[in-house]
Amino acid sequence: MLDMPIAARADHAADSIAGAATAFAGAPVSLPLPHLYARVAKHITPAEWPLIAREVEAIERLKRERNAVVLGHNYQAPEIFNTVADIVGDSLALAREAVTVDADVIVMAGVHFMAETAKLLNPSKTVLMPDMSAGCSLADSITAADIRLLRQHYPGVPVVTYVNTSAEVKAESDYCCTSGNAVKVVRAVAKEWGVTRILMLPDEYLAQNVQKQVPELELIAWKGHCEVHERFTPQDIRDLRENHPGVVVLAHPECPPEVVAEADYAGSTAGMADYVRDEKPARVVLITECSMADNVAVNHPDVEFVRPCNLCPHMRRITLANIRRALETMSPQVEIDPALAVRARAAVERMLALS
Ligand code: 13P
Ligand code: SF4
Repeated sequence: MLDMPIAARADHAADSIAGAATAFAGAPVSLPLPHLYARVAKHITPAEWPLIAREVEAIERLKRERNAVVLGHNYQAPEIFNTVADIVGDSLALAREAVTVDADVIVMAGVHFMAETAKLLNPSKTVLMPDMSAGCSLADSITAADIRLLRQHYPGVPVVTYVNTSAEVKAESDYCCTSGNAVKVVRAVAKEWGVTRILMLPDEYLAQNVQKQVPELELIAWKGHCEVHERFTPQDIRDLRENHPGVVVLAHPECPPEVVAEADYAGSTAGMADYVRDEKPARVVLITECSMADNVAVNHPDVEFVRPCNLCPHMRRITLANIRRALETMSPQVEIDPALAVRARAAVERMLALS
């Protein structure tokens, strides 16, 4: 239940304290914040926890003082995802929550485009990005000038850009989409515009995977790739099936189509978490960023997670220490030129209205 509020997650964690106490033989029983330790005990040793708990306590105090919330993406490290994140989820859920969040300050525990999206939807709020260099290979693959050039080549063709893009690129787009709503968005755009061709940018593999589900449309793609998901191969999946009989394979649609073709299910990070919750496979592998499995596993002790590990280096830039520092110093803040923000916001809001 990735989108549980922290209060609900804390209650759930209380049920697991007994499990945590036995996770490390000889662990001291009087660890600080035991209800949170229960959620990270598989990844953090009892020796490390007191230091981490001190950061968590400092962040919680600062959150109260600043009236701040922490939004955490599903790929965040377990010691962030399971402790200080108030709202967790996929890109779509974080964008939705950013609209309704009741706080003066938003801290984005994710990557830069996610913080920009939060700022676009909350221009009057302070949005803190604990490390401004937490980027994304997809967002870096296309510029606003590229979109303007594409429009000259394809006049009258609507532009749908993945939310993994800069605000400048969003400002040149007609609609945004995420991996959670891409099929819905392109179908709705085709209907609204009365067209069959759509520029779907910049993730080539997402466009190809969506194309399979909308054969009535022609999606024109760009050559952007996610540096984490492009590394998976069909042979990886075959090897996993051979070495882990019965394993259910869930893949993110940023993977190459040949990889998705070998999977049992493809969906956004929230889609994969929901699949595990609803289908309760005995053994599962998530073909995506590897912290995701650690985070989903917390709520599913009876499911065996096979864990190949491709980490997103950008997501890893966020730490408890830089979240604390951001709240202490109220920096770095995400700022977007207001004229540009109006246009970029429109593309995100059209997506939210459609989905
Ligand atoms: P989701 O929208 O599925 O959470 O994906 C975001 C992302 O960056 C995947 O690499
Ligand atoms: Fe970007 Fe890929 Fe990292 Fe997601 S996992 S933030 S798409 S580089």
